[in-house]
Formats: sequence, C-alpha cells, structure tokens
Amino acid sequence: MTGPRKIFVKTFGCQMNVYDSERMTELLGADGFAETATMEEADVILLNTCHIREKAAEKVYSDLGRIRLVKDARRSAGKETIVTVAGCVAQAEGAEMLRRAPVVDLVVGPQSYHRLGDLVARARSEGRRIVETGFPEEDKFAALPRRAPVKAVTAFLTVQEGCDKFCTFCVVPYTRGAEFSRPVADVEGEARRLADHGVREVTLLGQNVNAYHGLGPDGRSWSLAQLIARLAAIGGIERIRYTTSHPRDMGEDLIAAHGDQPKLMPYLHLPFQAGADRILAAMNRKHTASDYLRLVARIRAARPDIALSTDIIVGFPGETEADFAATLEVVEHVGFAQAYSFKYSPRPGTPGATMADQVPDGVQVDRLHRLQELLDCQQAAFNSACVGEVIPVLFEREGRHRGQLVGRSPYLQPVHATADSALLGRVVEVAIAGAGPNSLSGVLSLGG
Ligand code: SAH
Ligand code: SF4
Ligand code: F3S
Repeated sequence: MTGPRKIFVKTFGCQMNVYDSERMTELLGADGFAETATMEEADVILLNTCHIREKAAEKVYSDLGRIRLVKDARRSAGKETIVTVAGCVAQAEGAEMLRRAPVVDLVVGPQSYHRLGDLVARARSEGRRIVETGFPEEDKFAALPRRAPVKAVTAFLTVQEGCDKFCTFCVVPYTRGAEFSRPVADVEGEARRLADHGVREVTLLGQNVNAYHGLGPDGRSWSLAQLIARLAAIGGIERIRYTTSHPRDMGEDLIAAHGDQPKLMPYLHLPFQAGADRILAAMNRKHTASDYLRLVARIRAARPDIALSTDIIVGFPGETEADFAATLEVVEHVGFAQAYSFKYSPRPGTPGATMADQVPDGVQVDRLHRLQELLDCQQAAFNSACVGEVIPVLFEREGRHRGQLVGRSPYLQPVHATADSALLGRVVEVAIAGAGPNSLSGVLSLGG
C-alpha cells in the first residue's frame, strides 16, 4: 500500500522558524507531501534548527542520533528517507554538518529554502548529499508560492529578516544574513489573504522588526509604523503585534502608533540584555541603560498601560557582581510583564566567544536564578493586577476542559473562560476572576 508521501517537521528556535517551517511544509505540500506527526512514516524528515545558544544546537545532534535509527529501520523495510536540516544550524555549519552527522542528506539555509522542492527531488534522484547555504540574489519571498490558507485565528507574518547589528554574543547576523524588508504590497497581500481565511490577529516578525524599511507603494521606503497603519486598514484584521524590536530602532512614529492605533496591541518585546553600560558596550548593543529607561518612559507616555517584555543575558564575559546588580536595577525600575533570561553561551565565530574573563557556569547559574526570581514576581504582580478588570479577549482555540475557550488579552496573557465555540475568532469582554503565574481566567462579561 502506498499513500501520499509524507513529511515530518520539527521546529526549534524563534517564531521566524515557526513561520519558515509552515512555508516549507506548504512548499512540499505542493509536491504531494502530506504532513505527519509520526516520524517513522515520513519520507522526508525536516529539522528546522536554531543556533542561538549551545544547548539549542546540541539538541539537533541528539535528535539526529534518534533519526538515524528511524532511517535505518525504514531502509530495512525498503523505504527511503531524506533527512533534511534547515534553519540556523544548517546555515552556520553547512558542509561540516554532513561530516558530523552522516544521516543527513540535505542541508538548507534560511535564505535558500524556497528551493526545497527541487533540492529534495535532487537528493532523491541523484542519491547524493546536498548543501545549499548561499545567500541567493533572488527574493525568497517572491520566489515562494502564495501562502496557503491558514486555519487559525492568529498568524505570524515575516516582514523583515536578518540583522546588521552584530551584538558580540549573537549568531543571527551570520545565520540570517543582512537586513532585508519585504515590500509593503507583498506583506499587505499576504495579510489580506490571511484575513479572508479567518485570521484576526497578525504578529509581524523580524529579527529586527522595527528596523523595517520596505518598499512602499509610493516608491519610498516605509517604516514599520506606516506598514502597521496600512495593515490596520484591512477589515477582518483586528489585532496587530510585532516582534522582536531593538531599542535603537524604536522610531518616533512607532512609539506614537502605540497611542494612536487601536489595533496595535499594548504589548512590546524590547530586549535590553544587560544593565551595566560597560557590558552593553562590550556587547556592542549601541545603547546605554539610561537610553533604555528613557525610551521606556516615552513609550509609556504614549501608551500608559503597555505591557513590556524583554530578553536578558547574565554572565556575559567580564560581568562582575556590580554589573549584574545594574541589570537587576533596570528590571526593578521598569517592571516587566514578562521576560526571557539566559546564561551567556559562547558561540563559535562571534567576538564574545574569545573575550577574556568568561564567567564560570556556577556564577551564571546563581545570577540567572536571582534574576528569574525577580522576574517571576513581576510577572505574577502584573497578572494579579488584572483581577477585577474587564478585558477584551480574542478567543483562539478550545481549552482543555469541555466548554472552555482560550484566548489572549491585549497584553498577550492567555485567558481561559467558559464560552461557546461560536465565539472562536471573536473579541469578547471577559471579567478576570483569577490569575496564575502564566495565565488568567474569567467569565464572559455580558452586557458590558
Ligand atoms: N533579534 C532579537 C533577538 C535575537 S535572539 C534582538 O535583537 O533582541 C533572542 C535572544 O537570545 C536575545 O535577545 C538574547 O537575549 C539571547 N541570546 C542571543 N545570543 C545569545 C548567547 N550567545 N547566549 C545567551 N543568550 C543569547
Ligand atoms: Fe542578535 Fe543583536 Fe541582531 Fe538581535 S540585534 S539579532 S541580538 S545581533
Ligand atoms: Fe535561533 Fe536562528 Fe531564530 S539562531 S533564534 S532560529 S534566527
């Protein structure tokens, strides 16, 4: 019995990888591959990988170990399997990957995946291993087929890729290449089709999304704020978010949009990484702690209730206890609704990896622990403060309990409520009755 050929996809890393995985699945779908959640029945196994920290990259190799067994078992049963590694580890390691992991048939970087269909076909027909990690001249997005209908209430939409900032800890400028912005018309077309198929919220993605400068319909370069205004005019799109932003690129018009544009949600992920100016300089962040605090004040002046989220690294080379205290101080000062914090992980090829005074793991662990305690308190306080409020919730999916729906508050908190599934895709007022560390619960506020 032979059914349609199948593809199994596993995604690591950031939301941009989630978007890319969706597009790659869709590409192979056009070649007749159906998606499967069972690796053993997949003719193509695709890992979309992340290189940001050592742990993320190592996970790929441990997965490949398991995949080797699956591939061997399938071969014994007379079935061929094309093992594909895509994403940032693929880009960073290229041909080295073939050497380290003999199970891999195809290595394809984030800028070349629009050629995936051909590459898989070639790997099968030519029976040889292929590495495709160039930064091709053609526009990948223009070369991709039209995005297939998304059956969801919310969707990611990549509008910008790559990074020119070169923070000294970060691999992204090397794995994703130089900054590139999709033209406004291209993004608008994709957003319209999403809306036509029922998507109500789009999250605009970019490694440096607020550096967006896509070609506008007037032939000029448009800012992210202009793009947001354009997308807000699409009926059906009720909520707009964007991530991730760099403090240096928070333009005046974008800050103002948080006050003026009702569809732009009051939530902003704005990484600051470290609180000591000495460390920020060594990180090549191009901002000081007080620049960041001033920026936060301006954003809050435009939108007082905005929920702020951030990324923080502890134990960057040379970080002293006093430097770390400065990080805690910034956190105390801002009060974050949510945050992601990491131990510094030296990445091959980045300047940070060879800097003197690498911080021992024990010290990093201790600092991370202290930082996370503070961040957890702030998140709990933010969530508790919502109790008693009536908040508009966009219901996204069925909850785990019967008759329950889950949606998001404007501040991105998951909200559980008993509600009819007819309310999926609708924004509904919910009276918040309870708060947990990561979510809220409430009851529909009738007549409110
Ligand atoms: N483009 C985004 C984030 C990219 S990576 C930005 O500019 O903020 C997401 C987060 O991973 C970063 O914000 C940083 O906090 C963390 N990160 C990146 N490289 C890291 C490393 N080598 N070690 C630990 N954390 C790292
Ligand atoms: Fe990495 Fe810095 Fe670019 Fe963000 S701004 S992707 S942290 S180099
Ligand atoms: Fe990871 Fe690449 Fe995203 S390194 S965080 S998958 S841009």
